[in-house]
Amino acid sequence: MDLKQKRILLTGATGGIGSALAIQLAKQGAYLILAGRKQTKLDELKNSLENASEHLCIRADLEADGIETINTACLNWKDQGIYIDIVINNAGTNTFAYLAQQTAADITRETQLNMLAPILLSQHALSWLKRPGIILNIGSTFSAIGYPGYSTYCATKAAIHRFSEALQRELTGTGIQVLYLAPRATNTKLNDQRVTELNTLLGNKTDSPEYVASEIIATLKAETKYRWLGWPEKLFVRLNQLLPSVVSSSIRKQHTRITEFASKSI
Ligand SMILES: NC(=O)c1ccc[n+]([C@@H]2O[C@H](COP(=O)([O-])OP(=O)(O)OC[C@H]3O[C@@H](n4cnc5c(N)ncnc54)[C@H](OP(=O)(O)O)[C@@H]3O)[C@@H](O)[C@H]2O)c1
Repeated sequence: MDLKQKRILLTGATGGIGSALAIQLAKQGAYLILAGRKQTKLDELKNSLENASEHLCIRADLEADGIETINTACLNWKDQGIYIDIVINNAGTNTFAYLAQQTAADITRETQLNMLAPILLSQHALSWLKRPGIILNIGSTFSAIGYPGYSTYCATKAAIHRFSEALQRELTGTGIQVLYLAPRATNTKLNDQRVTELNTLLGNKTDSPEYVASEIIATLKAETKYRWLGWPEKLFVRLNQLLPSVVSSSIRKQHTRITEFASKSI
């Protein structure tokens, strides 16, 4: 889809990948609806973008009543003739800890934000998204590889991967495309210092949010249904489908180190 003058709703707009993406989308001539929790950060981001006056902000906590807030606003905008062409479900969170160390609140929070929020927002979008339109869900390499310390995160991202696939097939012929893009480790605040150190020790490569943003834009333009970022991560995703025992054996070699870092205090 050509992004010029397209209205794009972006959740997690003030985060690492979200803000890099907002900057690049605005340069492409898109008009953004920036969704986030903090009004000041949203306003600062909006004012830093090209064509600042064309963008809108919406404050919404997706773990609370944020989905309803966004839905009501989108229906009102539709009544005023402001149509949304693309929804990007980007907001996300994770807690790097073994399941035994996670609190019920951590698990509930991750599930609500990473899984329920994109599903519910996509459902609402069906009533106000323009045709042709796009729903793009941001996943993770960990949607296809179960990794120690990320059991809940892996579960939520795997759910969004399958959700995207099912909805893409369900919406055949409706004019709505459902796309899925899975970044690998990316240099944002999502990863605390323990994760960054562990990735360095294990030799895991980390992408910049600007690179991920440029891949998201390429995905939207080409309407690529699935995109996995990073090499050798792409290979491991395939290998884990075909020969999970090979991937288990490789991860087992890292187990002592992962356990050490997952149990460190932040
Ligand atoms: N970084 C990575 O290594 C990596 C790898 C693979 C996939 N991803 C995925 O990429 C996406 C973006 O992550 P990121 O790296 O940019 O993380 P980030 O810098 O931590 O940004 C996360 C965004 O989610 C928003 N958010 C958190 N809780 C929220 C809530 N309750 N309601 C509404 N918004 C909320 C944050 O808003 P505030 O600004 O208000 O905090 C922030 O804008 C996520 O879906 C993540 O799972 C990231």
